[in-house]
Amino acid sequence: MSAAKVASFGFKQAELVALGKNLKKINAKLAKKEAEPEISFRKLPYDLISADIIEKIAKNLQGKFDALVVVGIGGSDLGAKALARALVMPNNRLFFIGDTTDPNSLNNLLAKISLKKTLFYVVSKSGETLETLANFIYLRDKVIKAVGLNRHKDHFIITTNEKSGKLLEICKKEGYALLAHYPGGGRFSVLSVNGLLPAAWLGLDIKKLLSGAREMDKMAKNDNWRENLPFIYAALHYLGYKKRKQNIAVLMPYLEALNSFSFWYRQLLAESLGKKYDLKGKLVSIGITPIASAGPKDQHSQLQLYNEGANDKIFTFIRAEKPVVDFKLPLYKNFGLEFLAGKSFDQLLKIEQLAVANSLMKNHRANATLILPEMNEYYLGQLFQFFELATVYLGELLGIDVFNQPGVEDSKNLMIKMLNE
Ligand code: PA5
Repeated sequence: MSAAKVASFGFKQAELVALGKNLKKINAKLAKKEAEPEISFRKLPYDLISADIIEKIAKNLQGKFDALVVVGIGGSDLGAKALARALVMPNNRLFFIGDTTDPNSLNNLLAKISLKKTLFYVVSKSGETLETLANFIYLRDKVIKAVGLNRHKDHFIITTNEKSGKLLEICKKEGYALLAHYPGGGRFSVLSVNGLLPAAWLGLDIKKLLSGAREMDKMAKNDNWRENLPFIYAALHYLGYKKRKQNIAVLMPYLEALNSFSFWYRQLLAESLGKKYDLKGKLVSIGITPIASAGPKDQHSQLQLYNEGANDKIFTFIRAEKPVVDFKLPLYKNFGLEFLAGKSFDQLLKIEQLAVANSLMKNHRANATLILPEMNEYYLGQLFQFFELATVYLGELLGIDVFNQPGVEDSKNLMIKMLNE
């Protein structure tokens, strides 16, 4: 990403040094806000008491049900999905519904589960989201028909805020189990019960996850920008956006397990940074557009654009140093394919990523690579906290409120109004 590699499309050391001088002030501002609900996502990695309770609940559920279905959308399901899919292979009896009202999705889900043996985990911070409520109402009715009115309540756990909303009202009047939503927003909620309960249900080590996130959080308390990775990452994107019109951020993991992670990242960046007004109320219409890409498949569908189209993007690759499994290619003679003999699939993956990074560099396209020592709960925890913190830093540098989303709420309200009419 440096000018030494990508000429005028990269940052100069002096720019970074100058920006680094703001870090102490930004960290002090964030520390002062510590008690505010929005920033409370930073406390999640330290909350081992909740982790203990969640582990116990999950264990108890595993004995009673053979499938868990998360009913939620946006910040209420993308984190759990990213987490679950990063570390566990398919066929794990964890399902997601609620991010659509496409009837086919419901139909597909119902074909895969037995209502009598399924627990539905309904998550909505506001408790008012149409897609979530519609799926909940429908599934509730189905479960009542399957197990009876009295027993159906055992099949639902609800997470919503403790102050107001339809779901809270329903919980209070109908007596469904309630696990309170942490005080902050959905897109920063992956390390709260929202993500941890499904993860613990799968048998993931949620304490290891939190410990990785804690390490990253501690790193971000460092006022020396050279030792603060989330800040460096944010600063590089800020410089690209402000000085070089790089207003698109492409996330391209070379790990299939992170495909859902990219969709979590997409929401985090888009909703946090896409803002009409700055903190002073000035009209700025600001935003960095996130693109969820995937290597190596997008080499064969997007790379032409990335390499030769408008130079308005910053690329981030993610790869793991140590593969979970690996396979070696056998010798296949007589067709000029001997060079592949003995090479492993993971070796190919690394070469593919390196070749793409180099070819982007040759075309002066700024890119960075995040290397995880291996893909496990610990490094995944680091990764979640890394992107959340980098997003908060980016918001601070841009002078905007990363925690609100009036543009989402507007359409939500309009939808309810239209349905009522
Ligand atoms: O970030 C946001 O606020 C939204 O994308 C929400 O996560 C999404 O609309 C779901 O909202 P809720 O959790 O209130 O159902």
